Amino acid sequence: AYTAKIGPSVLSSDLSQLGRECERMMECGADYLHLDVMDGHFVPNITFGHPMVECLRKAVGPNPFFDMHMMVSRPEQWVKPMAAAGANQYTFHLEATTNPGSLIKEIRESGMKVGLAIKPGTTVEELAQWAGQIDMALVMTVEPGFGGQKFMEDMMPKVSWLRSQFPSLDIEVDGGVGPDTIHRCAEAGANMIVSGSAVVGSADPRSVIALLKDVVLE
Ligand code: DX5
Ligand code: ZN
Repeated sequence: AYTAKIGPSVLSSDLSQLGRECERMMECGADYLHLDVMDGHFVPNITFGHPMVECLRKAVGPNPFFDMHMMVSRPEQWVKPMAAAGANQYTFHLEATTNPGSLIKEIRESGMKVGLAIKPGTTVEELAQWAGQIDMALVMTVEPGFGGQKFMEDMMPKVSWLRSQFPSLDIEVDGGVGPDTIHRCAEAGANMIVSGSAVVGSADPRSVIALLKDVVLE
């Protein structure tokens, strides 16, 4: 049966309480945590880096899975620091590197799982040549940089094509996903669902996560 995991993005939460927010999301039923790293260069916004991740790891303990979404221009630079800080998966953008192959190898050698992300303007064929070497493909459903944007439904053919070609690959969607749009992602075959403002911005995150899980747990 088809199932998917729900990973709240804490980007839209009260960043002064990030440790507490991560714990709260796990208590509310999150399967993993999606952590958005932005460098003010690859995207026009800045969030946090590995020192924050190290503190979050101490705050939440060893179990929650940290899915690092690296929206940075030099993804090579942060592999070792992120691994040391307690990250579990390192997702870099295909647009940010000229040598995906060596980066994939470095991430794996550091002990983390490997994710490869594409922005809306990048074709899925460009990602496909690496699909046999990665753990997860991230199909962005907004332009990276900010939470709370509108879901781009026209990205779904990328997801369904990837699913048809790579049945056991983890496929994540990120951007504008919530109770109104998760059906599209599930139909296309995404099995890791990021939801930011719809969950974190809600007065009742537990109910929203339960609602999302209803769609993806059969
Ligand atoms: C956007 C980030 C997303 C974002 C998702 O650049 O990569 O993870 O926080 O937030 P929502 O669900 O609000 O679009
Ligand atoms: Zn993200």
